[in-house]
Amino acid sequence: MRDATAARTGSSSKVRLGIVGLGSVFEPYAALIRDLRYSGRVEVVAACDIVAGRARRVRDFLHQDTAFSTDYADVTERDDVDAVLVLTAMPSHGEIAAAALAAGKHVLVEKPMSIHLDEAAELVAQARTSPGLLVCAPHVVLSPTYQALWKRVVDDGEIGTVLTARARYGWSGPTWGRWYYDTGGGPLFDLGVYNITSLTGLMGPVRRVTALAGTAIPEREVDGEVIEVSDFDNYQVLLDFGDAHFAVVTTGFTMHEYRSPAIELYGTGGVAQMLGDDWAPQGYEIVRADTAGWTTYAEADPAWPWTAGLRHLVDCVIDSERLLIRPEHAYHCLEVMVKARLAAVSGETQAVSSTFDPVPYDPTAIYVQRGGKVGHDYRIRRHRDD
Ligand SMILES: NC(=O)c1ccc[n+]([C@@H]2O[C@H](COP(=O)([O-])OP(=O)(O)OC[C@H]3O[C@@H](n4cnc5c(N)ncnc54)[C@H](O)[C@@H]3O)[C@@H](O)[C@H]2O)c1
Repeated sequence: MRDATAARTGSSSKVRLGIVGLGSVFEPYAALIRDLRYSGRVEVVAACDIVAGRARRVRDFLHQDTAFSTDYADVTERDDVDAVLVLTAMPSHGEIAAAALAAGKHVLVEKPMSIHLDEAAELVAQARTSPGLLVCAPHVVLSPTYQALWKRVVDDGEIGTVLTARARYGWSGPTWGRWYYDTGGGPLFDLGVYNITSLTGLMGPVRRVTALAGTAIPEREVDGEVIEVSDFDNYQVLLDFGDAHFAVVTTGFTMHEYRSPAIELYGTGGVAQMLGDDWAPQGYEIVRADTAGWTTYAEADPAWPWTAGLRHLVDCVIDSERLLIRPEHAYHCLEVMVKARLAAVSGETQAVSSTFDPVPYDPTAIYVQRGGKVGHDYRIRRHRDD
């Protein structure tokens, strides 16, 4: 096991990765890994999937061979692994992330960090004392558009106090991975988590939550088979931030397309909207009460990859960058989601007890494809459309 201080600071020139889970999401992570490998920042030394046949996906997507096992402990326990990527189906995230942290590794875990609150609380506690860093997806707060919006709305207070907000993310649902439709999967953990992470980053911790949820499409074709859907696939979630500040999150495997903003923020002095999806922003627009017309800010980095948390982890490990994705924030979002589901089942509004410190964003730490690390002024191309 590595020295505790060394693991958290920039003591290495290359991060040696172990990957657990070689399913659908491995492919986009592999694209970023190839990039990072090309620039000498990472190498992949081991991979795991419970399906042995998936070993070939390492060659398919990383164009290399690596040690492979069907037992994740063979990855988490290796001396030559510095960081473990947990890309498995949701129900196994907590257990694998805990094992990797316990072995002294840095961990990037796909969302949610666990499907159980008690297991997630353990992870947060473990991350505080572990030599390894814990980065929990989604990585939306790292996008240049989110950072710019955060700077204007939270730091500069350009639209005053945000009183009410709307967010949405949905699609028609995966045609692979049956677990997405079983308890422990579902669109809230898979999709709504992006909106809840964005909104809480902008508006602060949620104090109460309530929701309507149901199974709108009880049978689906998944991996070529017709399956019964055993969890909710359609949600409307209401968030109470206190002081009569509210937000609604619309999410489901029930939305084919949309042309609405991902995030709408209505403040005492104006309105701000993030365009696109919060994992793939297309810029943002702002209208202020004291000036006429909307100002639209083009997307600064259309190639921003939503897998960017991996680059951020590598920057933190090698260059001692400040960690901008905090386990406490991910835990809070998980509590909101777990309680939203409980509210939908019980019909009763649920209190949310966890909180998190405001994320200390540092725009200069944000990497823009081909542009290096640059500040907001450079990144935002302004054009008026009024
Ligand atoms: N697919 C996407 O586009 C996408 C995008 C963003 C995030 N995610 C997240 O990524 C995670 C994985 O999603 P996916 O779509 O790749 O799922 P998937 O079902 O395609 O892949 C999951 C893989 O994990 C393996 N696995 C399951 N349990 C394991 C265990 N205990 N040990 C080792 N391997 C195990 C499975 O065999 C499978 O190959 C989920 O948390 C999902 O929310 C997926």
